[in-house]
Amino acid sequence: MIFVTGGAGFIGSNFVAQWFDGPDGAAAEPVLVIDALTYAGNLASLAPLRSHPGLTFVRQDICDGAAILALLRQHRPRALLHFAAESHVDRSILGPGEFVRTNIQGTFALLEAVRDYLAQAGAAEREAFRFLHVSTDEVYGSLGPTDPPFCETTAYAPNSPYAASKAASDHLVRAYHHTYGVPTLTTNCSNNYGPYQFPEKLIPLMILNALAGKALPIYGDGRNVRDWLYVGDHCAGIGAVLAQGRVGETYNIGGRTELENLTVVQTLCAVLDELRPRAQGSYCDQITFIKDRPGHDRRYAIDCSKIERELGWQPQQTFASGIRQTVAWYLAAGDWISEVISGRYRDWIDLQYGRAGSSSAEK
Ligand code: NAD
Ligand code: TYD
Repeated sequence: MIFVTGGAGFIGSNFVAQWFDGPDGAAAEPVLVIDALTYAGNLASLAPLRSHPGLTFVRQDICDGAAILALLRQHRPRALLHFAAESHVDRSILGPGEFVRTNIQGTFALLEAVRDYLAQAGAAEREAFRFLHVSTDEVYGSLGPTDPPFCETTAYAPNSPYAASKAASDHLVRAYHHTYGVPTLTTNCSNNYGPYQFPEKLIPLMILNALAGKALPIYGDGRNVRDWLYVGDHCAGIGAVLAQGRVGETYNIGGRTELENLTVVQTLCAVLDELRPRAQGSYCDQITFIKDRPGHDRRYAIDCSKIERELGWQPQQTFASGIRQTVAWYLAAGDWISEVISGRYRDWIDLQYGRAGSSSAEK
């Protein structure tokens, strides 16, 4: 068995689906999902697997180390994959406390529980165990236009409370390997997109706003650059690191797809124009520039040559193919969308963008 924290979130649920979709199919190793079901967690994202015999779900806060230790002793997994986190930069700017709690204290609680569990485990179990920590490229800070992409030895320089909390968690993972010998693996990945992403993040927010006839709110001048990776490619990379990664190592995962935000939004508008045309004009007409995010990192880019070289991983989707699949998925996902558009989500949209859920043209 493996444990997956945050398995009801965007990337975690995609990972679990891919796990059971592999060559072993129904016979794949069982998964225990541990998730607190915050606003970002949604059992509907695991609904296609509801009847899968290998999937067990536990609603549990990762900050409760005693409960995690009890689960470890009960199920004796051979790995814990740690996706659970507060993950949205804008939320971290408005309320950093929850980021410190889940991302730092939660990761600490998991590491302590695993350390206790391994201390009493047999030699073979200890040898086989892996703690795989899923992290972000945002820990490295912001690049200038001609800087080389982030590699595994780039110095940490987090700029947002989200990035700082993830950086702290990465450091704890590193320390638990060096000090206590916990068999850790860390991945730092670039921006993901794909099915089941909560519509607070750029791509799903823009798709849903476009379809609702609302403004498409682009921060600042829209020239900030992110390196986009289809979520299925990220999950395959995590699978490769779990299977063959060297203990104590870090692997950067990215799409080699640097794009300005404005280009991303224009591309998805073009796909929508084709798949669900407006009565008149283009969805691009809805693009609006709004006040920039405080401390907005200008550019992220990942050098993923280590995972390519050592583990033979490579992204399978281009941005063109991935964005098409993603738009098509959201167009067909009415039930999932109405499930996630809860009161709490609407409250967030009002707080971030103003009452109308659209934008003013302030800058
Ligand atoms: P998400 O916000 O969609 O999901 C997070 C999940 O964690 C939710 O199911 C939520 O209920 C759960 N959770 C939150 N706090 C919890 C707690 N205290 N105890 C238990 N469960 C809790 O996030 P995501 O986009 O799927 O990201 C998953 C991981 O990948 C995160 O660690 C994130 O930092 C990292 N990451 C994300 C991206 C991206 O583009 N989304 C890129 C690189 C790395
Ligand atoms: P986001 O999806 O929040 O990911 P991150 O901040 O972790 O990179 O944002 C991606 C980019 O899109 C980022 O540069 C901020 C920008 N953005 C907008 O321009 N408008 C929006 O409404 C949102 C949510 C993001």
